[in-house]
Amino acid sequence: MLEKITVKSFLKKKERKEKITMLTAYDYPTAKIISLTELDGILVGDSLAMVVLGLENTLKVGMKEMLHHLDAVVRAKPRQLIVADMPFLSYETGDALKNAGLFAKHGADAVKLEGGEEFSDVVKKIVRAGIPVMGHIGLTPQRFLRLGGYRTIGKTESEEEQLLRDAKALEEAGVFSVVIENVYSSIAKRITESLSIPTICIGAGPYCDGQILVIHDLLGLSDFKPYFAKAYIDLKEIISKAISEYVREVKEGKFPSKEYYKEK
Ligand code: KIV
Repeated sequence: MLEKITVKSFLKKKERKEKITMLTAYDYPTAKIISLTELDGILVGDSLAMVVLGLENTLKVGMKEMLHHLDAVVRAKPRQLIVADMPFLSYETGDALKNAGLFAKHGADAVKLEGGEEFSDVVKKIVRAGIPVMGHIGLTPQRFLRLGGYRTIGKTESEEEQLLRDAKALEEAGVFSVVIENVYSSIAKRITESLSIPTICIGAGPYCDGQILVIHDLLGLSDFKPYFAKAYIDLKEIISKAISEYVREVKEGKFPSKEYYKEK
């Protein structure tokens, strides 16, 4: 049996220049399927607000929803590293350690939080308690109001330099890796080369140590798919075909056929 993937495995992969692969997952059956693959990490992302719960943005989910979905993923016992996303207002106020601790008690191997150098102290506090932290810089969707929407970050020189400062500050604070979202690829490359911890990118080009996608985007299940997300299959089409066939067979009296019921 293959070994459990840990934060150490992520660091080793960077040293060996092996690409790291991550996907989001929010439920038991998906985590079960993932556990049979060579994927490295599962993020129970707050993107569940939109892709699972049909909410408008990630500000609308809290610890209760995140724990509910984390529990489902943990029950699948995947060998992949499980990272729990800290939702809006779960770490900006005084409760960061308590909430990160809750995730760890529920079986997360690490937590992720959005933000750069302004959250260095929060990161230090969580890491000091023994909980690995993944950073998240660039487009941080929980700050879309301040950022003026969902846009590519790093257009100006000052934005680019801030991204580098954020990445460095997070590394110094003790994160084991950092997600870089929707950032120009040349900047993600600069950051990746300047850090000894792995960068995991989404919409930030090929020069990172790893990639992450929202699984609903990869499977073709999303209502809205950002330009940088590749759909590897059109499950929406496949599922709707299956449902239509079922409806037709019931209406035509073809389902259930003999093998699907018992006669006394
Ligand atoms: O919540 C999420 O899915 C994420 C990824 C986009 C990195 O934070």
